[in-house]
Amino acid sequence: TITNSTNIFWQECQIGKPDRQKLLNQKGCVVWITGLSGSGKSTLACSLGRELHTRGKLSYVLDGDNLRHGLNKDLGFKPEDRTENIRRTEVAKLFADAGLICVASLISPYRRDRDACRAMLPDANFIEVFMNMPLQLCEARDPKGLYKLARSGKIKGFTGIDDPYEPPLNCEIEIKQENGVCPTPTAMAGQVVSYLENKGFLR
Ligand code: PPS
Repeated sequence: TITNSTNIFWQECQIGKPDRQKLLNQKGCVVWITGLSGSGKSTLACSLGRELHTRGKLSYVLDGDNLRHGLNKDLGFKPEDRTENIRRTEVAKLFADAGLICVASLISPYRRDRDACRAMLPDANFIEVFMNMPLQLCEARDPKGLYKLARSGKIKGFTGIDDPYEPPLNCEIEIKQENGVCPTPTAMAGQVVSYLENKGFLR
């Protein structure tokens, strides 16, 4: 690890991740949801959180919009700010270490930044979920009216309009339309829950 601090030492405690996981009867991991604004990231995150809760599994949602109200409120949307935004979401790794299923829901448009997060966790514990919804659909939904503002030039550097979105090359889960129909929130959550079950995260 590269750090600017000197004379620091890693402190081990007696109780570790395996102990916490045993207590919770689940395996900590990060479910990282990436996609365009309006692609349904938050909808999936909430639906997934609810489903896991119903099953007695402890999860926590880190939502990009929400983090920007606090921890990341000093950041804007310049490329370096977005990179820092994703880097700080390393906090997801800490939640996973605590034994939780941490659901991170951020546009996270740059592949390199997502890969850096992946590299912080044992590979199988980072589950990248790509909301593969066409820009046209997201723009038609425009739940916050931001695409309209971006098209009229009132927002500069909007993802998908005048700032790039780099789709994952090797995601674990892809959420997309079937025959032109979007899956329901329950179906999307079901897809992720099945994956978590099959991989033994829910025990
Ligand atoms: S990023 O790219 O990962 O740092 O973005 P994130 O932290 O997920 O924040 C995305 C939300 O910020 C709002 N917003 C913008 N998005 C993209 N580009 C620009 N320029 C922008 N300005 C504001 C928008 O509400 C995003 O929320 P979602 O939920 O994705 O629609």
